[in-house]
Amino acid sequence: MTTKITWLGHAAFSLDIDGQRVLIDPFLSGNPKAAATHESLPADYILVSHGHGDHIGDTVAIAHRTGAKVIANTEIIHWLIGKEVANTHSQHIGGGYHHPFGYLKLTIAHHGSRLPDGGDGGNPAGFLITTLDGHKIYFAGDTGLFLSMSLYGDEGIDLALLPIGDNFTMGPDDALRAVKLLRPKTVIPMHFGTWKPIEQDAAAWVERVNAETESQAVLLHPGDTFTLG
Ligand code: NI
Ligand code: MN
Repeated sequence: MTTKITWLGHAAFSLDIDGQRVLIDPFLSGNPKAAATHESLPADYILVSHGHGDHIGDTVAIAHRTGAKVIANTEIIHWLIGKEVANTHSQHIGGGYHHPFGYLKLTIAHHGSRLPDGGDGGNPAGFLITTLDGHKIYFAGDTGLFLSMSLYGDEGIDLALLPIGDNFTMGPDDALRAVKLLRPKTVIPMHFGTWKPIEQDAAAWVERVNAETESQAVLLHPGDTFTLG
């Protein structure tokens, strides 16, 4: 049983968990760094962290085409039902649920969540996924640094996906502090380089993580896949 994590650019990921395809924040249309098009992407589940356009992205189109189950907070699910997305599951922060791909818990994120048409996106979230084979993946979503990351770290994180872009989320310095709180085995940076305000030297950040923490940082390029062994 393996879990493969493919970065699709920005905060969009495609997870292959023992053959089940889990998309996270599938923002592809209008994403200058997109490594896939929404018309051809397979999906069994779609996880949406918050309502902003660069995260809800192509969720409605992919859900209509594939019938994938969309998982998000109650407000976003209510909005999606209004867009005739039929297969949904709502959760909220602190709550976990056993899905066929593993146990998914919604985590805190300090950010906004308004939907593109002005709809109420509730509170933004991150995701803590315990895969069927026991690997723990933390997707921080869009957030600033917060001390409770240490509590998530206590759970034993194998892979953390952290924003480093600055301006809208943690920048490189706070993301480095986040790594020290989360203590993941591996960390992959995201939410940088998509547009001018979030351009960062991600290779330099990876070097800092590897020099200053116990975690191993891995730099992906859009389209690259990391395999959890
Ligand atoms: Ni956002
Ligand atoms: Mn964002």
